Amino acid sequence: MTISTMELLVLPDRRQGAKLVASMIVEAIRLTPAQRLGLATGGSLEPVYKALATTVARGQLPLSALHCYLLDEYVGLPPDHPARYRNVIEEQVVRPLRLDSSQVHGPDVTAADLSLACDEYEAQLHADGGIDLQLLGIGTNGHIGFNEPGSPRGSRTRVARLTEQTRADNARFFGGRHPDVEALVPREVVTEGIATILDARRIVLVAWGENKAAVVRACLEGPVTEAVPASLLRTHPSVTVVVDPAAATLLARETIDRAGV
Ligand code: GLP
Repeated sequence: MTISTMELLVLPDRRQGAKLVASMIVEAIRLTPAQRLGLATGGSLEPVYKALATTVARGQLPLSALHCYLLDEYVGLPPDHPARYRNVIEEQVVRPLRLDSSQVHGPDVTAADLSLACDEYEAQLHADGGIDLQLLGIGTNGHIGFNEPGSPRGSRTRVARLTEQTRADNARFFGGRHPDVEALVPREVVTEGIATILDARRIVLVAWGENKAAVVRACLEGPVTEAVPASLLRTHPSVTVVVDPAAATLLARETIDRAGV
């Protein structure tokens, strides 16, 4: 297993970080309009998709050949539930970029045989040529996609169960002031596996804010271990980590010294 040094970029704030990532996406689409983009969902990606919409609105970008692939999805939510990742992407990416919904692919989480649906999604990713650029956030426990700590490095798209920490972290997207909001977060999900994510040609991970500082340190400086799934990205040759200063506060001097801005 070869361990690489991931490229680290510390931007003055999350708005500028998001703008930079949006410009990377735009550049990738300009170079290869038939770009296959892997989309993560969550608070960290929201400013990136906003910046992307603004950039796209300003310039002429060929988007008809673009194809997007969902990284993960909850199981058991009604089709119109606003927290469903397919709906979030519809709202944050498809509509603002005026894509056609058929340009977004994801696992069929309504299938009677979920494990077959996972295999079919994996086969589709392969048949379509694989992800060119995968966008990732990072969970406070180091998860990527919904690959919770302990997920095998060789894992593929599969049904998984969320930890209570992740359900608590994600409760903010479910039902606002509901007295028992955590109970509304599904336990079951479908996620691309670690190996599926590592198949992407290029990966960009974003993290903002103080509550990601510990996990950013673990990801960049801790041991490469399945206990911190994001640390396994160090086995990939082309990963860029984009953070704001708050998420970089616990990094060692040497790590910061080699970071770009
Ligand atoms: C969520 C998603 C991940 C996301 C991560 C961080 O649970 N499944 O794909 O990247 O956790 O979320 P956030 O950006 O909201 O902190």
